[in-house]
Amino acid sequence: MFKPFLFVLSVHSLLTEAQTISVSVPALAPSSAPSLPGSLISFSIEQDRWVDWIGQESRNDFFFNVLDNLKSITGEAPHIRIGADSEDHTDFSRTFSEAIFPASNPTTPYPEATNVTSAKGTEVIWGVNFGTDNLTAAFLETQAIVQAFTSPAMKTAGVTLQAMEIGNEADLYGNNGHRNSSFNAQQYTSHISQHHYEGSFCSGSNGLLQDLLSKAHTRGNLSAFAPDIAAAQQRGLQYVLGETNSYSCHGAPGVSNVAGTALWGLDYALFAAQLGVQRVHFHEGVGYKYNFPVTLTRSILDGSTLETPLAPHIQPLYYAAIVAAEAIGKSGATRAVELNTTNDQIAGYAFFEHDTLARAAFINLKSFTEGTRGSVHVDLTGGAAGEMTVRRLSIPTANATSGVSWGGQTYETSDGKVSGSLKTSRVSVRAGVDVNDTEVVLLTF
Ligand SMILES: *[C@@H]1O[C@H](CO)[C@@H](O)[C@H](O)[C@H]1NC(C)=O
Ligand SMILES: *[C@@H]1O[C@H](CO)[C@@H](O)[C@H](O)[C@H]1NC(C)=O
Ligand SMILES: *[C@@H]1O[C@H](CO)[C@@H](O)[C@H](O)[C@H]1NC(C)=O
Ligand SMILES: *[C@@H]1O[C@H](CO)[C@@H](O)[C@H](O)[C@H]1NC(C)=O
Ligand SMILES: *[C@@H]1O[C@H](CO)[C@@H](O)[C@H](O)[C@H]1NC(C)=O
Ligand SMILES: *[C@@H]1O[C@H](CO)[C@@H](O)[C@H](O)[C@H]1NC(C)=O
Ligand SMILES: *[C@@H]1O[C@H](CO)[C@@H](O)[C@H](O)[C@H]1NC(C)=O
Repeated sequence: MFKPFLFVLSVHSLLTEAQTISVSVPALAPSSAPSLPGSLISFSIEQDRWVDWIGQESRNDFFFNVLDNLKSITGEAPHIRIGADSEDHTDFSRTFSEAIFPASNPTTPYPEATNVTSAKGTEVIWGVNFGTDNLTAAFLETQAIVQAFTSPAMKTAGVTLQAMEIGNEADLYGNNGHRNSSFNAQQYTSHISQHHYEGSFCSGSNGLLQDLLSKAHTRGNLSAFAPDIAAAQQRGLQYVLGETNSYSCHGAPGVSNVAGTALWGLDYALFAAQLGVQRVHFHEGVGYKYNFPVTLTRSILDGSTLETPLAPHIQPLYYAAIVAAEAIGKSGATRAVELNTTNDQIAGYAFFEHDTLARAAFINLKSFTEGTRGSVHVDLTGGAAGEMTVRRLSIPTANATSGVSWGGQTYETSDGKVSGSLKTSRVSVRAGVDVNDTEVVLLTF
């Protein structure tokens, strides 16, 4: 079903004429422009294999490096939430740590553990089991977490506990086996962490990449949260999307793991910020189709055994975090507005530091897979003048799983650190910029 659709898309792109659009970029931040923290793109980690991420006996340097890359760009480390489905399958033991996993299958090659016994020690937003309705276990687990976070080792490491999440997606307890059918969200509490996926791939047909990349879909999916965001803000609270990604159930093969999702992830996080979302925690788990994993022995696409184990590496979605970090920068005083582009394949945002225009990003969301690549020429009107620096997120094809580069540099390295020399160009603002299909350009004024 998937391939013929991509063929139709590529035929369509052959017929596409080069287009020019004119976009107004304000020189000063409109008063409505929300602030963007350096940690806008943060992460959520499945609780069951948490120790694999941080490292069992010694530090997992790959994981450390991919987080540190972001911190070195914005000056602020991404926040980490540890929880999700396995959070409600976690029991407590003082003496040992063990996880029991169900059998792998082609749809879910890396299922979540059904029973985790958590050891002490770890990170920032920690999910506690509320699903199994055992207050003794929840109490002991909470005690262990507090003890771990107040330990000298944790204090030395500078790791702090920001919040505890009581249960995962409690609105689903009534029909997922945790509680009886009379349980509902009203019985839970008025502080909640909201989760969102654009689609679901628990079984059945694949999602389609161009569907995911649709500007209207991203806006439709996120705008549904506007009343909740407003309600949180009215009470002086920050609104965070605590767990999110492209497709639930660990991602859709051929969609969640390919380069086009970097464009989706960037637009999704930046648009969420426009609505007042403080942070967007992209969910990750070992072997999920959208994460930066530890060593894998089974295919993330169908669960088949790999001939040689796959070393830790990033998935293309990681570039969304890098580009967002670069657009937000280090000022600690960045605000952004979405630009009106009159074109449903181009999303644009302007970034202001201390109210003055600093950068702009244009995302061409049209999925290019083969044939002739289209492009859109963007002319800038408004306040910017003089010259600008152009940096591109180059993507071979929307369905590629590697080969992405950001200003000529790659993060597809064995240690997760950036490699290669930076390539940018200087052009006059008046000349405008071409944005190829399936490409991001970042302009620095
Ligand atoms: C979970 O694992 C512990 C330790 O092995 C065991 O005692 C307990 O019975 C298990 N619980 C379930 C629900 O499987
Ligand atoms: C609740 O959790 C405690 C601590 O893990 C355990 O000893 C107890 O057996 C559990 N109760 C039930 C009903 O499972
Ligand atoms: C569901 O569980 C609650 C709390 O344990 C209990 O009070 C209620 O009677 C149960 N309802 C049904 C329909 O079993
Ligand atoms: C949310 O995104 C999905 C996948 O792209 C799309 O099918 C759905 O129509 C979108 N929903 C809204 C309300 O826009
Ligand atoms: C986008 O268009 C709306 C409606 O005309 C306008 O209110 C808004 O200021 C525009 N945004 C920018 C950044 O120019
Ligand atoms: C991308 O899709 C096109 C069109 O179906 C196909 O020809 C090409 O082989 C695919 N590329 C990759 C890397 O999967
Ligand atoms: C845009 O695509 C065209 C056609 O594939 C290619 O020649 C050009 O180098 C691309 N531009 C950039 C800046 O990547």
